[in-house]
Amino acid sequence: MEPSVTPAAPKVVREPALATFANVESAPLPSATIARLTSVTKIYEAEEGASVKALNAVDLTLRQRDFAVLVGASGSGKSTLLNVLGTLDRPSRGEVHIAGVDVTEQTDKVLSRLRLKSLGFIFQSFNLIEVLSVYENVEYPMVLAGAKAAEARQRVEWLIEEVGLTAHRHHRVTHLSGGQRQRVAVARALANSPALILADEPTANLDSKTGDAILSLMNRLNDTEHATFLIATHDPKVMSHAKRTITIADGVVSES
Ligand SMILES: Nc1ncnc2c1ncn2[C@@H]1O[C@H](COP(=O)(O)OP(=O)(O)O)[C@@H](O)[C@H]1O
Ligand SMILES: [Mg+2]
Repeated sequence: MEPSVTPAAPKVVREPALATFANVESAPLPSATIARLTSVTKIYEAEEGASVKALNAVDLTLRQRDFAVLVGASGSGKSTLLNVLGTLDRPSRGEVHIAGVDVTEQTDKVLSRLRLKSLGFIFQSFNLIEVLSVYENVEYPMVLAGAKAAEARQRVEWLIEEVGLTAHRHHRVTHLSGGQRQRVAVARALANSPALILADEPTANLDSKTGDAILSLMNRLNDTEHATFLIATHDPKVMSHAKRTITIADGVVSES
């Protein structure tokens, strides 16, 4: 064990019965595997018979504690890959396993529960709830997952401290800068201690200094929370933070 320099993160108790990453040990895949795409093809059918193959026979395995960057030009299939991995969209062909569960066979209700408890999303447009404070935005996924406000408090306060917004915790998010809003989004994505965090161009709307700070923050939380990150970007600078670089071009994934 490496000595830990940061105090352990407070975690909200999970419901044990749910088929999520909590029982990753019992999954048929090796325990270190968090998610796997097998021969995943995604075809968007457009009008007048035209169609776009956004993902072309993609094989990809994400393991516990990966900090992977998905690099590709605009239109190369990054968002489609994240949406399919995040169970927001279904593949046309192929299999998507998350913690050993074939998610293509699950109902929407099961998938929404899986997303809430086990996946974290960070978008380029932040997607915060404007009428809520910093504190309430971070707390929201925990309350949705059934945590009592009192149980959640310690973790919400810890996350807000980690992203450096304690002084702003009771401010409405509309009063924050872009970089501060994205820090709230990072804290919110980590609220339910998800095993996999999917970030879609999280620095696209930030200046490069603020973007660097957000990337360093995610890097640090990858260390302290042991969560797996997959970060889509077409910004080559983001690659300098990667422990793993996955390239996508015309829906075909490769890794050097
Ligand atoms: N809902 C959709 N309907 C039709 N085509 C789509 C849709 N979403 C994405 N595409 C197409 O699929 C390809 C990959 O898009 P996307 O995954 O958004 O790429 P990226 O995120 O790398 O910019 C592009 O050609 C895009 O135009
Ligand atoms: Mg995109």
